Amino acid sequence: MSTITLNLETDFVELPQPVLSPTMSLQQAFKSRHSARTFSAEPLSIETLSALLWSGFGVNRQDEMSGRTAPSAHNWQEISVFAVLPEGAFRYDAREHRLMLIKAEDLRAATGTQDFVGSAPLNLVYVADFSRMREVQAGDQAFLAGADTGFIAQNVYLYCASAGLATVVRALIDRRRLATALGLSKTERITLAQSVGSMRVS
Ligand SMILES: Cc1cc2nc3c(=O)[nH]c(=O)nc-3n(C[C@H](O)[C@H](O)[C@H](O)COP(=O)(O)O)c2cc1C
Repeated sequence: MSTITLNLETDFVELPQPVLSPTMSLQQAFKSRHSARTFSAEPLSIETLSALLWSGFGVNRQDEMSGRTAPSAHNWQEISVFAVLPEGAFRYDAREHRLMLIKAEDLRAATGTQDFVGSAPLNLVYVADFSRMREVQAGDQAFLAGADTGFIAQNVYLYCASAGLATVVRALIDRRRLATALGLSKTERITLAQSVGSMRVS
């Protein structure tokens, strides 16, 4: 098991091939899915990160549009998944299955207003790019981006349930502060965040 290693000469981290160990049936994962807000300080391995991001919103079909594990309205695929780790903040590039470095800084505390987010081993941040959401009435973009995020977040919940990880999806976010920290563009909007870590054994 390896944790993430940043090579500062490149601006990305290659993720290993996602491996989903079939230790739990889908039915068992449904039964154990729940929100948890306490995490062990243990970092997630890069193998876990790979499987988690792929499950959430990875490419599962090599067709023209690179079909994804979660649906999106009009197949816009407008949601970017940011992985905010102690080593830095990254944008998940699903086609290349790698993490693009945004900032080599620990921005975890900026991903939400609850105390646990600063020490959660991983905080995912879901960001919708409204400029990709064409042919829709103004006002419907936020609604559809929220729905599209929900599918990804639930994929992450089910992956976490199957892998024995703790997770909670979150709307309590200072969006302006986080958008600035992540250097988002004017057309990008933060929808939700989701904390992930190993379960804390008390
Ligand atoms: C859209 C949405 C926003 C949420 N926001 C937060 C949040 O900001 N902080 C938090 O601790 N939990 C948040 N939750 C988690 C809910 O509190 C949790 O799903 C609910 O209590 C049901 O518990 P369960 O997920 O264990 O079934 C959110 C859930 C959803 C679906």
